[in-house]
Amino acid sequence: MSSEKVENLHASVLLNECLEMLAPQAGGIFVDATLGLAGHAEAILSAAPDVRLIGLDRDTEAIALAQRRLAGFGERARIVHANFAALKEVLEAAGVRTVNGVLADLGVSSLQFDRPERGFSFRFDAPLDMRMNAGSGEETAAELLERLSEEEIADLIYNYGEERFSRRIARRIVWKREIGEPVRTTRELAETVEKAIGRGRSKDKIHPATRTFQALRIAVNGEIEILEGFIRDAVEILKTDGKLAVITFHSLEDRIVKQTFRKLTGECSCPPRLPRCVCGAEKKVEILTRKPIAPGEIEIENNPRARSAKLRVCRKV
Ligand SMILES: C[S@@+](CC[C@H](N)C(=O)[O-])C[C@H]1O[C@@H](n2cnc3c(N)ncnc32)[C@H](O)[C@@H]1O
Repeated sequence: MSSEKVENLHASVLLNECLEMLAPQAGGIFVDATLGLAGHAEAILSAAPDVRLIGLDRDTEAIALAQRRLAGFGERARIVHANFAALKEVLEAAGVRTVNGVLADLGVSSLQFDRPERGFSFRFDAPLDMRMNAGSGEETAAELLERLSEEEIADLIYNYGEERFSRRIARRIVWKREIGEPVRTTRELAETVEKAIGRGRSKDKIHPATRTFQALRIAVNGEIEILEGFIRDAVEILKTDGKLAVITFHSLEDRIVKQTFRKLTGECSCPPRLPRCVCGAEKKVEILTRKPIAPGEIEIENNPRARSAKLRVCRKV
């Protein structure tokens, strides 16, 4: 690992677009809530003199590599091993009350995805782990599949993977458990899904297990539950005119970002029959991206993993 160049382990998505939106000014202070390999962080720190950045990641391996990449910035970069659900506490501990911009580039990094032992990908055979915070006492994907009922597994795969064959897949996973062969590795899961769906049944070009893997990863890391709270906390800590930029990689996440931004614009969500507003809508942000920003053809050609990325940005008012 030490010989690998950090820069080559993950290509930062929509980098120029993020910089344009966040527009770091001299002396500004920014949060990168999903530091990863610190590509965006490095660009933010380099954009203007004396910019400071607080970077969070829940993955210790990413933290170590980010530290290496940002070492040259000295005290200007503060790197914290934390879940962004604890954003407010991290800032308080750093003695920072408000910031000029927050970036969240959600999901997994190529580092996580390309390391067989992390268990995120069906391209390798490895224990079915999928924890971003690997080595923590948190439940792995294999343990989750052993604990949940058939119905719970089906709901999870349907809700987080938008997989229409979720019931069949759940049935087969539980049947494997019942015959004493619980699904414990990435290859076993990929094969179980393929057998449950039947080869050629899925009309997509993607591997039949793609949606199931995505669903499990989201569940293991509690990705959806914390998103709205994080966006609200991020807006709280922004200075007036500060920007929040969020990059998502699937429709479920993007929908939450879109809806939460909309709620924060103060748009009333009460049913029209109510005589007055009771939803407590209050204008906190202006949305700067009516439509999300997507990568251009050249970026997708150079980095196919960017193809599903969407960037949404709002400004605190
Ligand atoms: C797509 S990568 C970020 C890549 C980074 N922007 C770059 O340019 O190198 C996402 C990172 O966010 C981290 N992450 C995901 N959810 C998180 C959370 N709730 N709290 C902290 N870090 C998280 C992952 O561990 C991963 O390293």
